[in-house]
Amino acid sequence: MSIKEKLISDNIPKHVAIIMDGNGRWARQRGNDRTFGHEHGVESVRSAVEGARELGIKYLTLYAFSTENWNRPKEEVNALMALLVHAITEETDKLNENNVRLRVIGDVESLPGEVQKKLNGSIDRLADNEDLTLILALSYSSRWEMTDAMKKVAAKVEQGALKADEITEETFQAHLNTASYPDPELMIRTSGEQRISNFLLWQIAYAELYFTPTLWPDFRKENLFDAIYEFQQRERRFGKTSEQINEENAQKA
Ligand code: IPE
Ligand code: IPE
Ligand code: MG
Repeated sequence: MSIKEKLISDNIPKHVAIIMDGNGRWARQRGNDRTFGHEHGVESVRSAVEGARELGIKYLTLYAFSTENWNRPKEEVNALMALLVHAITEETDKLNENNVRLRVIGDVESLPGEVQKKLNGSIDRLADNEDLTLILALSYSSRWEMTDAMKKVAAKVEQGALKADEITEETFQAHLNTASYPDPELMIRTSGEQRISNFLLWQIAYAELYFTPTLWPDFRKENLFDAIYEFQQRERRFGKTSEQINEENAQKA
């Protein structure tokens, strides 16, 4: 029996987030420059999207370029931006056929004009698709996002539209880039690093974390199925006791 067949269909996460890491090391292992790894990472994105659709995952957020990644050598940043334009151009038709909607989180305005134009064109074209929402995190960092949200909330207080003591967790959440998406139940990081690198810090408060040594260019949908399988073995308690969770499950059944 394949891992996919072992998955429990009514316990598939609605939202999975992936830190796609290890492209540079993958390329170096092959005696190539880092960009070679980024290029090969596109196939992994394709496979992950396919796998997500097969399982009925509704939201897939991919960390593609962080705020901190702007500090990489200029040639690598330029190559990544060019690859982004190329990938969007190449993949939009297929995403459309597969009923995938595209969204972006991050400081989009800091991206080169051509990238913004391509992205917006694709986002518009795929806007009515509803099987899967593919969310690309570009020029994204969680601290940037939270600071941005804080500014928006503060502006409302300043304008008198909101009182400071009326601010709730929901108010803050509603001003994040991810306001219209549920929190990810599962976050995956490839390449063996076990850190979050400024990704979705607010949203992963109760996400299950899954780390795999697989480098991103080697990642395929079967690796996603492995992660979901592991997710399904865990007991998510949300601060309660195991006994309470068992009782709740018995009542639901
Ligand atoms: C992830 O792979 C892609 C981006 C961060 C853009 P890396 O480029 O970080 O590859 P490693 O971690 O150096 O191997
Ligand atoms: C995180 O990977 C960002 C993306 C995958 C886009 P990095 O390779 O930039 O993270 P660190 O620097 O190893 O933490
Ligand atoms: Mg890395």
